[in-house]
Amino acid sequence: WIEPLLALLFGYLLGSIPFGLLLIRATGGGDLRKTGSGNIGATNVLRSGNKGLAALTLLLDIGKGYAAVFLALQVSDGLGVLAGLGAFLGHLYPIWLRFNGGKGVATLLGVVAALIPTAGLIFAVTWLGSLALWRYSSVGGMLAAISVPIAAFLLGEYAMMPMFIGLALLVLWKHRSNIERLIAGEEPKVGASKKV
Ligand code: G3P
Repeated sequence: WIEPLLALLFGYLLGSIPFGLLLIRATGGGDLRKTGSGNIGATNVLRSGNKGLAALTLLLDIGKGYAAVFLALQVSDGLGVLAGLGAFLGHLYPIWLRFNGGKGVATLLGVVAALIPTAGLIFAVTWLGSLALWRYSSVGGMLAAISVPIAAFLLGEYAMMPMFIGLALLVLWKHRSNIERLIAGEEPKVGASKKV
């Protein structure tokens, strides 16, 4: 049981690095949690006006999910799954931020891409496609998260479906304030500078 626990912990520690928060702080932008939506993800970094930093946050948040799975997969498939689960939970509930982390979209993409590359591709297409259509980052992220268990089903990866359903539900739960804003017609579109 020690190896599974270590994989989970390794993934958690990697996933719990709040790159958006650290990058904004390092570049003198203060506390990201006190601006825009208050989220620590790339969308909120983008609201600070720094596109390069937002892109870097996105890449690092995807990368930590991918790296956690990729490294653990070198030992075994099961440990890869556990490290991915850990990385996702680490991003959402980082001990360093008193368990108040991000919404998990980018990290989920990294995890899925490393576990089932085709499902990662479906995720990316869903995310970018809905973003291009409606320009709401939250809508794109939620739809992409929902696409994961569906893709796992279509690709015959039945064993991973329960976990992916759970992760998609957590992504929706973390977007509850976005859902409220969408219903109220107050969710800012990507590219708009309006504060929320
Ligand atoms: O991945 C987070 C995104 O879907 C929403 O971010 O800052 O608009 O709450 P934000």
